[in-house]
Amino acid sequence: MTRAGVLREANAKLNVFLRVLGRRGDGYHELESLVLPISLADGVRVRRADGLRVTVKGAERLAGAVPAGGLNLALVAALALGDVCERSGGAEIEITKRIPVAGGLGGGSADAAATLLALNELWGCRLDPATLADVGARVGSDVPAMLVGGPVLMRGRGELIAPATVARSWWVIVSFGFGVRSPDAYRWWDEDGASSGPDPEPLLDAAETGDVEVLGPLLFNDLEPPVFARHPEVAEAKARLLEAGALGAVMSGSGSSVAGLSRDEAHAKEIALGFRGAVVTSGPPAA
Ligand code: C5P
Repeated sequence: MTRAGVLREANAKLNVFLRVLGRRGDGYHELESLVLPISLADGVRVRRADGLRVTVKGAERLAGAVPAGGLNLALVAALALGDVCERSGGAEIEITKRIPVAGGLGGGSADAAATLLALNELWGCRLDPATLADVGARVGSDVPAMLVGGPVLMRGRGELIAPATVARSWWVIVSFGFGVRSPDAYRWWDEDGASSGPDPEPLLDAAETGDVEVLGPLLFNDLEPPVFARHPEVAEAKARLLEAGALGAVMSGSGSSVAGLSRDEAHAKEIALGFRGAVVTSGPPAA
């Protein structure tokens, strides 16, 4: 830690597959997903201050709006950590936004996870990873997975996580000027009587060995049919990525971003030329 505070990268994620198994009694959905952190990242800096304050830079360049004030997940994370850390104090949390907002890339959860890790250090809370994961689960379903920093297989509501091995892969991300709220996407899945995808074992094997030719056609997300039915432009982007030569393409999280898998960096850059504002990224990010 320096006098400038603690600075952390908040990496976005892709869901290489997302399998929805059913609605639970508590309203959440039982799911299974391979969560892959990618190089695209926000920056989170925390400094000591009186009270808690979040400032966001760079959001004006991005589609959608960053929830301000009490809805900002970084602030929710700071408050949740303050509840369990005896040494908590004030902090100024400065977020530099690069991840499209509400695009299914886990930007808010990434900021929350990075805030928990940075404040744990700034305040000297010394909470262990399991306790931080519990705090993270209270902030949002994706936060425990984002705290790990590497690929994870996520189950339950999102709180059951196991590290996974994924070879580095290159992706083209196409985002839109709107997001899809997760409660909506999951409710549409219920309303439409949508289905659950296949056993992900072959996909996990291909992801581990880095056989992208095999992996491409195996990518899936059970939230695609309900979201595509209401936002045909997302389905169109997926079709266009495949036409442009992507080995596979899949919507991330509840959308609206779509990720196209490529053979390598040069191939990703070539595909991205056909899409305005597309981002070329790789995951897992280099340590
Ligand atoms: O936990 P989080 O705040 O990220 O979840 C937002 C909403 O997404 C939940 O209120 C729920 O409607 C939906 N969701 C779900 N099943 C999950 C995760 C999220 O139904 N496993």
